[in-house]
Amino acid sequence: MARTFNTILVTGGAGFIGSHVVRRLVNNYPACKILNLDKLTYAGNLENLTDIQNKPNYIFVKGDINDINCIEDIFEKYTIEAVVHLAAESHVDRSISNPTEFAVTNVVGTINLLNAAKKNWAAASDKNLFYQISTDEVYGSLGATGLFTEETCYSPRSPYSASKASADHFVRAYHHTYLLPVAISNCSNNYGSFQFPEKLIPLAIHNIKNSKPVPVYGKGENIRDWLFVEDHAAAIDLILHNGLVGSTYNIGGFNEWKNIDLIRLLCKLMDKKLNRPAGSSEKLIAFVKDRAGHDLRYAIDSSKIKKELGWEPSLQFEQGLDKTVDWYLANEKWLNDITSGDYQNYYKKQYLER
Ligand code: NAD
Ligand code: TYD
Repeated sequence: MARTFNTILVTGGAGFIGSHVVRRLVNNYPACKILNLDKLTYAGNLENLTDIQNKPNYIFVKGDINDINCIEDIFEKYTIEAVVHLAAESHVDRSISNPTEFAVTNVVGTINLLNAAKKNWAAASDKNLFYQISTDEVYGSLGATGLFTEETCYSPRSPYSASKASADHFVRAYHHTYLLPVAISNCSNNYGSFQFPEKLIPLAIHNIKNSKPVPVYGKGENIRDWLFVEDHAAAIDLILHNGLVGSTYNIGGFNEWKNIDLIRLLCKLMDKKLNRPAGSSEKLIAFVKDRAGHDLRYAIDSSKIKKELGWEPSLQFEQGLDKTVDWYLANEKWLNDITSGDYQNYYKKQYLER
């Protein structure tokens, strides 16, 4: 039988995936309070949630998962029954420049939340769930064949994936040691609306739109498995309410793309949408210095969540990409607001001074 909750704490709900999760939970469960705890780092943006900000079951708290008093106050004041933990530093390139920040937020921040849940919930309680949102990157890098399954050993290779892997280990350790009810899902690369344009797809859309070079690392031969963000949010909703406690679920769309092929597809699409002559966006592709330790291939076997919970992606990649491009073109102000200021400094350091 499905679990029900009266109060769910979503961390990192002002970020890309978090905002889709918050929107879905607020709309689907009007009798449940959805509390969004977010520090509003460069990646957090309340503009992502304007459509639901006045809903009576939505509460926003600006706070840091490393502020123990803040977390304890929230647990006490709102009697939190479930945690959907997304707050994290999420960009691999930034983790290469500043690994410590990733350990502090992604590892220590997760432990702080686990401690609050452990303090406030009865051991082995079936009324609660600590749900850790993780990534396929913890499994490491694949060669030309094979898929990551839930049994694949962790082998993280970037500071980002090492911090997420470490956090996942703590979540499992709290389950085994203290009988904390937990679930973990490991998802592949997401794309869609509200993604910060440091990640490949929104960065490329933004640059093509502005006729700026589209940076492709190395030869563009690395492979990622792409999933539309709303399909990820649907899977999270399902696992939160129906997933087996103590379980791990892989989430992905069986949708592998070589970076260069994806960028070429995007260029074709953008030429059409912007009424530019065929081939003009492709001329913007610029092969740049490769990412240090760049993982070659990620690919997820998501057959377990399909078999056990009946989840499947709702969109083909071409449809999802089409919708995504339309969204970024229609939301120029959103994109312009976040690409002014600090973004310019980041872009300069990451792409122009390397
Ligand atoms: P994001 O960078 O867009 O958002 C992260 C959010 O966390 C932001 O709103 C930020 O303000 C908030 N945050 C950061 N540090 C915080 C702190 N100390 N306290 C409170 N809030 C803080 O990230 P995203 O892409 O939406 O990813 C969300 C989660 O999903 C992450 O845990 C990430 O590891 C995981 N994930 C992401 C992908 C992907 O493709 N983006 C894939 C699989 C898993
Ligand atoms: P990214 O969106 O950063 O996600 P992740 O590193 O977590 O998979 O990058 C996706 C792929 O695109 C990855 O192989 C790195 C590559 N990439 C580029 O080629 N150019 C870029 O400017 C960025 C940001 C990424």
